[in-house]
Amino acid sequence: MKLKIITSNPGKVREYSAALSRLGIETEHMKIPYDEIQTSELSEVAEKGMDEIISKGVRDFILDDSGLFIDALNGFPGVWSAYAQKTIGNKGILKLMEGVENRGAEFRCCIGCDISGKRIVVTGICRGEITLSEKGTDGFGFDPIFTHDGKRTFAEIPLEEKNSVSHRGIAIQLLLAELEKLGLSR
Ligand code: IMP
Repeated sequence: MKLKIITSNPGKVREYSAALSRLGIETEHMKIPYDEIQTSELSEVAEKGMDEIISKGVRDFILDDSGLFIDALNGFPGVWSAYAQKTIGNKGILKLMEGVENRGAEFRCCIGCDISGKRIVVTGICRGEITLSEKGTDGFGFDPIFTHDGKRTFAEIPLEEKNSVSHRGIAIQLLLAELEKLGLSR
């Protein structure tokens, strides 16, 4: 099976290529812009994105809408994560969290997959905490300020390890289970 990965984010491409190749799924990266609608649900953004990509004649692909949801900030940046990353960045998030004791947060990743005329939408969640400072140089986006084990950030662990615990890794496992149910996993 071959799936196109529709994203402009090189970090996502690296994670999908590594995780899907381990499952025997070939990947091809395609950068096709699509509108990210303003809504409070990642799955709605992914569904609308899928409609737009399908309307362009593209089939057999995955795209993902993901974000960081911080408990003490009532889920901010959430669906506005890309905007927050571009504007205030990790330093801005740490500033908002200065003096905040409750550091609980979660990454969510919603994958939309079009395959053989079928549509699959799954969401993976990874709970963790916002660190007190930025640490690590691997990964992308909010990785340097998020820890799933209270010890190392996602930017301090190898990609394979991130994929084994992350929101995206969990979403990929859920996607695989759905593909298996449809008899499409190979
Ligand atoms: P989008 O899904 O491309 O809209 O990304 C939302 C924002 O969340 C972007 O700024 C990403 O950098 C960030 N983001 C999404 N997934 C991850 C991740 O696995 N690690 C760190 N940041 C992420």
